[in-house]
Amino acid sequence: MENILNSINNDAPVKDELDVKNLKVIGEIPKDLTGIYMRNGPNPVFPANPYHFTFDGDGMVHAIYLAEGKAHYRNRYIDTKGLARERRAGKALYSSITNPRPMDPEWAMPEDGPVARKNSASMNVIPHAGKFLALFEGHPPYEITEQLQTVGEWTPYDSQHSFSTSAHTRRDPVSGGLWFIHYGVLSPSLTIYCVNNQGAIAKKWQVNKSYSSMVHDFALTKNYIIIFDCPVVFDVKRSLSGQSMIDWQPELGTRIGIISRDGKETRWFITEPFFVFHFANAYENAHEIVIDYVRHEHGDFFSSNVNATKPVSNLYRTIVDLHFGTVKHISLDEKIVEFPSICENYNTQPHQYIYAEMNNGETNAIIKWDVNKQNSYQYVFEKSTQLSEAIFAPCANAAVEDQGYLLLFVYNNISMQSEFVILAANDFHHPPLARIQMPRRIPRGFHGSWTSGAWEW
Ligand SMILES: [Fe+2]
Repeated sequence: MENILNSINNDAPVKDELDVKNLKVIGEIPKDLTGIYMRNGPNPVFPANPYHFTFDGDGMVHAIYLAEGKAHYRNRYIDTKGLARERRAGKALYSSITNPRPMDPEWAMPEDGPVARKNSASMNVIPHAGKFLALFEGHPPYEITEQLQTVGEWTPYDSQHSFSTSAHTRRDPVSGGLWFIHYGVLSPSLTIYCVNNQGAIAKKWQVNKSYSSMVHDFALTKNYIIIFDCPVVFDVKRSLSGQSMIDWQPELGTRIGIISRDGKETRWFITEPFFVFHFANAYENAHEIVIDYVRHEHGDFFSSNVNATKPVSNLYRTIVDLHFGTVKHISLDEKIVEFPSICENYNTQPHQYIYAEMNNGETNAIIKWDVNKQNSYQYVFEKSTQLSEAIFAPCANAAVEDQGYLLLFVYNNISMQSEFVILAANDFHHPPLARIQMPRRIPRGFHGSWTSGAWEW
């Protein structure tokens, strides 16, 4: 734990909460880029023991406020109930999420159940219906304000009750509705929610599965929800015997679920075992479903297998033919990538471009694929850098799909400083438009979002 939290690999947390206006800029911030970029990630106050980066650690949002060519920075912890309990205790109360244990009886409360699991609200932060939601896997989202103050567990506006979700959502660009999933750890089930553009639950139903497994992300088409049920299986009994709660069981295969958005029909297609964290997009083409994602060749890194190798992760396309009942997997590229993204205005519709972070140990780059022309471009950063997920911010009134900007944090492990970089998505041949100098190191984190429009500091 000591090595992880004190290392210079940018996993170590930062302690303070800052408000810094008018950051120094190398280059020029586009004048039409007005809005807030937010990114969430684990930043432990009291590290769990054992501490497992990145699953453990209290959520901290780092935000960049852009307008009129200027940039401001603010960061705040998500003040969760679990963190408040630990602040009162003055010590860590929760064990690692990968190895949950009963809490110290002195501090345990009845609602903790047999094993206490902390909602760190640390994996994602997104806007919806005028609010910002910090998301974690298997727990209710936390609502925060535009100024990053924690409001509390989010409830839909027509309800007094929060509900648990996964860390990823999909927005229907036509209706504005936001889709969530929640998978059961103790029971093999999946609950699907649609929250409309007013913030009220419009749809909710449950889908039964064959076994309890991790479903980190999903995809959405005009008529379907797409689930890749990979054989990363939960087993609480394993964790009580000291092993990881999560096990890779390739003999089960990967099951692709095509679930109609009215909840009336679910079809499962069994295919070879592989693992998926993140999808880029999916869409319908007559009776075919086209799904683009990053495929890991296995999910053994979750298990206790000491011989597990780091899997290769590549961009793939899977085509499910609903008429003929066939599944076809196509490798789109051999580059090792993760964190795929698109212009989200193209969610559920055919996209031409996918962006992702490439790190093969030699080259750090942001990749842009043109899936129509089947070629790619890359913007290469220095070898001493560490890149975050690139978020696409479209230009106002964009005429073409790649008319916009890619936004990301870049950490340099020699200077131990971070920059916020703005790349022109339609020009990978020139340097970034702007390299905004951060007033502090931004630790490695997970996911975030861009919210265009005016804001209040
Ligand atoms: Fe994720």
